[in-house]
Amino acid sequence: MKRVSPLFLVLLVLGFFFATYNLLTMMIHYKTYSEEWDDPFLKPENLNEFGGSKSKYHVALTANDAPYSQWQCRIMYYWYKKAKNMPGSEMGKFTRILHSGKSDSLMEEIPSFVVDPLPEGLDRGYVVLHRPWAFVQWLEKATIDEEYILMAEPDHIFINPLPNLARGQYPAGFPFFYIKPSDHETIIRKYYPEEKGSPMDIDPIGNSPVIIRKSVLEKIAPTWMNISLMMKDDPATDQAFGWVLEMYAYAVASALHDVHHILREDFMLQPPWDVEIGNKFILHYTYGCDYNLKGELTYGKIGEWRFDKRSYLSGPPPRNLSLPPPGVPESVVRLVQMVNEATANIPDWDTL
Ligand SMILES: *[C@@H]1O[C@H](CO)[C@@H](O)[C@H](O)[C@H]1NC(C)=O
Ligand SMILES: *[C@@H]1O[C@H](CO)[C@@H](O)[C@H](O)[C@H]1NC(C)=O
Repeated sequence: MKRVSPLFLVLLVLGFFFATYNLLTMMIHYKTYSEEWDDPFLKPENLNEFGGSKSKYHVALTANDAPYSQWQCRIMYYWYKKAKNMPGSEMGKFTRILHSGKSDSLMEEIPSFVVDPLPEGLDRGYVVLHRPWAFVQWLEKATIDEEYILMAEPDHIFINPLPNLARGQYPAGFPFFYIKPSDHETIIRKYYPEEKGSPMDIDPIGNSPVIIRKSVLEKIAPTWMNISLMMKDDPATDQAFGWVLEMYAYAVASALHDVHHILREDFMLQPPWDVEIGNKFILHYTYGCDYNLKGELTYGKIGEWRFDKRSYLSGPPPRNLSLPPPGVPESVVRLVQMVNEATANIPDWDTL
């Protein structure tokens, strides 16, 4: 009998494995491929020029009834109404999710939905901890017509018409330079087990701004709430994350559900650091803008000219704020102009 060469056997075995491997990967590819095509939000004719799903999103703004939050919401809603019907916008309806448990003076002016705050004392003065619980309640109780949701904040101004940047099941988020999950491996591991993978895979985002499919947010929101409470309860985590704890909680919660965000730098601009508006969509005025009269930034030092939302903690800024001196970047000038336009046109600005 003729002996079969060992080399032939090895090749035969290798060939068999290779063929099986190819077949398997083809099957896997075919599966994801067909799943994607089953999603009507991913059909080429249903995609916009940004690769997002051409479908309206509901603008959801979480807020409380403090005067500081109210005046920002009024400006935010004013610019929503202006941006909504501009070409390229995919905005649907608007809801201020009011998490103070009772109606306030803006119910007539802004579409609002009242939800409960967290039980007394649970936030330990960290008010944004109410946000995830507010979303959980709103998603459960409200009728939301749109398939997508934009999670927005009171200090957001729509500066260009915002399309739906989410694509099918993939939400879109803004990458924050200070959210760095890989710098906090030991802390993150308390909430993100080894088997989920590396903390490097967690998105550098917070919950806002994010545009997300409603069904995906419904999965994430309860986890986001639990993780944020657990993080706040753990002194080491609380100390490491400070005022951005609830952003980390959202980033971890979404990764726990294997949800990854499309990171869009153009989602938002933040004066005074971003000086040009360009094609960015949301102006976020969270940083104080301090300048001397030569138009030079004096960040960290009170400027001869300044606009800082924190100057108006107990009530609204006056109408017709003075414009910055010459030389101040476009982003800051536009911010003040947009605040002034809103306050000039909102009835009873200083009295409500
Ligand atoms: C949140 O925590 C509660 C209490 O520990 C638990 O019963 C619930 O299943 C958790 N939910 C999620 C979505 O993690
Ligand atoms: C706004 O203030 C400027 C001076 O800073 C003044 O010239 C202008 O008339 C004011 N406009 C309104 C509408 O009050």
